[in-house]
Amino acid sequence: MENSAKPDLKTGFPVDNLPDEGMILGQVEGEDVILARRGEELFAVGASCTHYHGPLADGLVVGETLRCPWHHACFSLRTGEALRAPALDPIACWRVERIGDKAYVREKLAEKRRKPALSSPNSRSLPASVVILGGGGAGLAAADMLRREGYDGPLTMISADGSAPYDRPNLSKDFLAGTASDDWIPLRSPDYYKDRRIDLVLNSRVSALDLLQKHVQLENGKTYQFDALLIATGAEPVRLKIDGATDSQINYLRTFADSRAIVARAASAKRVAVVGASFIGLEVAASLRARGVEVDVVAPDRQPLEYVMGPEVGLFIRRLHEAHGVIFHLGETVKRIDGRTLTLTGGTALEADFVVLGVGVHPSLAVAEQAGLAIDRGIAVNEYLETSVPGIFAAGDVARWPDPHSGERIRVEHWVVAERQGQVVARNILGYREPFNAVPFFWSQHYDVVINYVGHAEKWDAIEIDGELDARDCAVTYKRGDRTLAVATISRDLQSLQIEAAMEASLRR
Ligand SMILES: Cc1cc2nc3c(=O)[nH]c(=O)nc-3n(C[C@H](O)[C@H](O)[C@H](O)COP(=O)(O)OP(=O)(O)OC[C@H]3O[C@@H](n4cnc5c(N)ncnc54)[C@H](O)[C@@H]3O)c2cc1C
Ligand code: FES
Repeated sequence: MENSAKPDLKTGFPVDNLPDEGMILGQVEGEDVILARRGEELFAVGASCTHYHGPLADGLVVGETLRCPWHHACFSLRTGEALRAPALDPIACWRVERIGDKAYVREKLAEKRRKPALSSPNSRSLPASVVILGGGGAGLAAADMLRREGYDGPLTMISADGSAPYDRPNLSKDFLAGTASDDWIPLRSPDYYKDRRIDLVLNSRVSALDLLQKHVQLENGKTYQFDALLIATGAEPVRLKIDGATDSQINYLRTFADSRAIVARAASAKRVAVVGASFIGLEVAASLRARGVEVDVVAPDRQPLEYVMGPEVGLFIRRLHEAHGVIFHLGETVKRIDGRTLTLTGGTALEADFVVLGVGVHPSLAVAEQAGLAIDRGIAVNEYLETSVPGIFAAGDVARWPDPHSGERIRVEHWVVAERQGQVVARNILGYREPFNAVPFFWSQHYDVVINYVGHAEKWDAIEIDGELDARDCAVTYKRGDRTLAVATISRDLQSLQIEAAMEASLRR
């Protein structure tokens, strides 16, 4: 939106200059504030997204919500609440007074808390205790929402990871590139868990789930009783066996510790081989280039990312990386590793100080399988994200759910989806019976190019490109027949939000 001269919203803004669902970026006592209109109602809220400080004035008003252009967080205009991840914290609200044909933004309001779940119609069914298995995006978002909704009972989060929940997507981006420090990575401070009485049990792998006794058992023998359970165990990197390779030559990237290990090795490395032209593999390549390390990418594909985004985007991504010095070896894999030498199936020999394997992940299903939950290339859940056993939910990378947009049962590996599913599970644990119907969304960053993707297209029969990939200004639509399955955009954040909103609206029709 136009915001070259920010009006002082204290001195009054003509209401007629604001269309319905329109907004203007102004200032109040030196702070950037958005004045938005919905019908005859006016709202004033903070202009900076609480996720990564995205400029909300470049976003979209949809009904009573304000959407962030960067990663599609959704805020309530009425209360400022971060209704949908990836933002978890509210934006500030100001009181607005209308006098005649002008809106005056007055004082900042104290944070409005939503009414606690205990006053909800289903309060009698609140669980005696909740255990969350997994301390990733889905697990943290669920714990956060349970407390936000006023759930007061015992809440335990058990994680095999040694670190408290952190910003996993950043591990292959700014953190790995050296532009984000350690303290940027945790999603919450230690005090957050203490203040909300979230019992965070780290370094603890759950080995068994007893459905009759309703307890989970850790590898160390300790058990935790639950009344409601969320399984959010995420995914693990696929581990390739390569002839001659020793574990010490190979790095994977899933955890904070993995990313730190790559950073440490990159400090003295001149040349690294990335095996796999996946999103993570390519983001690693970009981040290592930012550190001045030479990078070879080896992958069997014709173009990087072709299987997810089609040949045109694949070629664009390849050229982008090549322009930054990455050397691709496509159509082949690694046959052997001997010391620093990788021999490819085509016969080429590459030198590398170490290797990063980014060849995909598989869902962490061991506990669900052991317990006998229904499995369908992931944990099978219904529209409420409940597994085949009532009271046991699954969310995030591990869950396959009936996606109402594609009409298919899908499992995706998207940060925002994992967090939003965690939030919906939290509400369903409290008895809301809310179907999960968010439009799948992910983003990926390569150097200064960010791709936003809404919808879900595993197979398509046509790709339409509006704009130009090389100009880094386009929308790529994946279609089956007349149906738009998904749209990837570059430098068209507002359009991406509009498409998401249209997909949401089409469900209501
Ligand atoms: C490097 C990297 C970059 C990414 N970038 C993006 C991006 O740009 N955009 C995007 O949309 N997505 C991105 N993703 C994907 C995104 O991070 C995942 O979709 C998301 O983390 C899934 O959340 P989750 O809670 O389901 O699982 P996870 O975040 O993987 O969390 C799973 C948790 O379960 C724990 N766990 C597993 N098994 C057990 C057990 N038996 N007992 C106890 N604990 C257990 C794990 O330790 C972990 O704490 C990226 C992923 C990686 C690895
Ligand atoms: S910066 Fe707003 S959603 Fe990420």
